[in-house]
Amino acid sequence: MVTMVLEAIKYTPQGLYILDQLRLPHESVYIPIANSVDAFNAIRSMTVRGAPAIAIVAALALAVELANTEFPTADEVRRFVSEKLKYLVTSRPTAVNLSDAAGKLENLVNETEGDAKKLVGTYIAAAEKMLVDDVNDNTNIGRNGLEWSKKIIGNDKFSILTICNTGSLATAGYGTALGIIRSIHRDGLLSHAYALETRPYNQGSRLTAYELVHDNIPATLITDSMASVLLKTHPEIKMIVVGADRVAKNGDTANKIGTYQLSIIAKHHGVKFVVAAPTTSIDLRTKSGEDIVIEQRKPEELVTFRGPVIDTEGNVTKEEIKTVHIAAPGIGVWNPAFDVAPAALIDAIVTEKGVVEKDENGEFHLEPFFL
Ligand code: MRU
Repeated sequence: MVTMVLEAIKYTPQGLYILDQLRLPHESVYIPIANSVDAFNAIRSMTVRGAPAIAIVAALALAVELANTEFPTADEVRRFVSEKLKYLVTSRPTAVNLSDAAGKLENLVNETEGDAKKLVGTYIAAAEKMLVDDVNDNTNIGRNGLEWSKKIIGNDKFSILTICNTGSLATAGYGTALGIIRSIHRDGLLSHAYALETRPYNQGSRLTAYELVHDNIPATLITDSMASVLLKTHPEIKMIVVGADRVAKNGDTANKIGTYQLSIIAKHHGVKFVVAAPTTSIDLRTKSGEDIVIEQRKPEELVTFRGPVIDTEGNVTKEEIKTVHIAAPGIGVWNPAFDVAPAALIDAIVTEKGVVEKDENGEFHLEPFFL
């Protein structure tokens, strides 16, 4: 029996380690993150990914770096923190959690009075709290999502479709959309979970599938192009639940590429379309999805596959991990990492503080969570 706790981030005051998500599910290897450059590279390369996880790794990497650096004055700490956070925020543009965390930490350090040691201690405590808070927030998102589903869908078992990886690997633990699936499963109401492969980076087949198998949740993997026919042929699927990289003020939600098409087919098939988002993913300064910067990634992600070689019997040989080319050489590639599901197609936004539904005019009001 597998008892290992799934942890993307391992932190003690002595050091920060992240589970190398480029090697999952074939190998489980933790790598050290000693400073902001290590964190930047890990986030850019997607060694760690998922909106909350990248924010926490950035915050904690700087905590480790601060603890190991001598500062003559408090102003030196402030300057260092500001410069490093600005740099870390440029690693990936779409998830707001990273800039949200950076903004909060920078303000805290700027507003704290005292000497260099006091400022460093204050920063470290705040970054450590982000790790703890994220797990609590996700548990609350799970509970709120479960209660909402009971209210709207009822107390009969039902199935759920999800995309990308929004679980323990994308957060400090438990997960957001996958956290809701976990909570519904623990309550005995989950019939089956369906995970989209999530091309081109395969967070669904590599990471969500790994988590579902790990937790013994009844689940099936499908390719992204099977989603519509799955809904047509499996009426027991009552909910699509997705994560968020940035929820705009009007509720438009940027998430993994493929989320937009799920919001459209949910409407066509009368399936509830639910966004699971901690309030750290809500960006009231961005008015609508039109204003969200969508990260474009390298063509190589689309035209290559990476994985272990199989032998002539079809058995995985873990010793040899290879990258193979799968497209016609010379073809042009478009590789946006995210798309935007419009608020009009979203039934509910589940946060740790409660569930937001649209008013009688079809509008979300997210501001009350921040008052
Ligand atoms: O490119 P990724 O793997 O970082 O994309 C992740 C997603 O799109 C997730 O759905 C989102 O960050 C929420 S994770 C709780």
